Amino acid sequence: MLHGLYGEDGTIQGLLELLKVKYVGCRVLASSVCMDKVYTKIVFEKAKIPQAKYVYIKSKDSNFYYIDNEFNESKLNLNEITERIEKVLGFPVFVKPSNSGSSVGIKKAVNKQELFQAIMYASQFDNKILIEEEIIGREVECAVLGVDDVKATCVGEILPAEDFYTFDAKYKNADSKVVIPAKIEKEKQEEIKKLAIKAFKAVDGKGLSRVDFFIKPDGKVYINEINTLPGFTKISMYPKLWESEGLNYSNLLDKLIELAY
Ligand SMILES: Nc1ncnc2c1ncn2[C@@H]1O[C@H](COP(=O)(O)OP(=O)(O)O)[C@@H](O)[C@H]1O
Ligand SMILES: [Mg+2]
Repeated sequence: MLHGLYGEDGTIQGLLELLKVKYVGCRVLASSVCMDKVYTKIVFEKAKIPQAKYVYIKSKDSNFYYIDNEFNESKLNLNEITERIEKVLGFPVFVKPSNSGSSVGIKKAVNKQELFQAIMYASQFDNKILIEEEIIGREVECAVLGVDDVKATCVGEILPAEDFYTFDAKYKNADSKVVIPAKIEKEKQEEIKKLAIKAFKAVDGKGLSRVDFFIKPDGKVYINEINTLPGFTKISMYPKLWESEGLNYSNLLDKLIELAY
């Protein structure tokens, strides 16, 4: 299994297409759309899947550009950018490199000063930067599998050991826990499963993906992102979700390879 840059972003998928080698999972388009958080959000918007409000900016040679709803770019200084973001989203916000993963480059900002720093930090990882309103709620994930007939698992919950699911909370802090199935009511599970399949189809997903959500205390569900090549160790959420549905690791691999063919 591959991850991140060159593994999950459509590049190796394109290489395999050229070589006419069969491969598991999403093809070029879905892989690259889901690797780019801004473009994923544009597709979710079109599909009317609820998500955090956002804006995005570009950085180039120490200049910053604010991108409006029609993709027009205005060159602004960082002070003007942060002011505009505050006006549109308020605080706190999450600042993310559009192309990254494993929470690398992501910071939460609660005021203009922190926003300023978070943008500078994120711009080290990508020149496209996404800024989102904070969604306060539970973090849950759903595994989908299939090509034409797409199935979704029950929902699993993440209990991060830190303020949010940072790199350290994901990979280093043993106090981060997952709960499968998440302790949420049946109807909510069903609602999230349907949304996961809808989102997967909206990005033209194939094979597998893990679709991540937030549930606010009032029950409203927001999509966060789609991971087209989710973590795949024996203790990762994706295989564990399928295991809870009665499909063990080995049979899951068989199924994925069969779907690739
Ligand atoms: N809008 C948001 N509101 C609240 N928490 C968020 C928001 N966006 C991200 N997070 C937190 O940051 C973590 C990493 O963000 P995510 O967009 O999933 O990036 P990655 O692709 O690196 O996993 C999430 O798992 C969640 O804990
Ligand atoms: Mg994530």
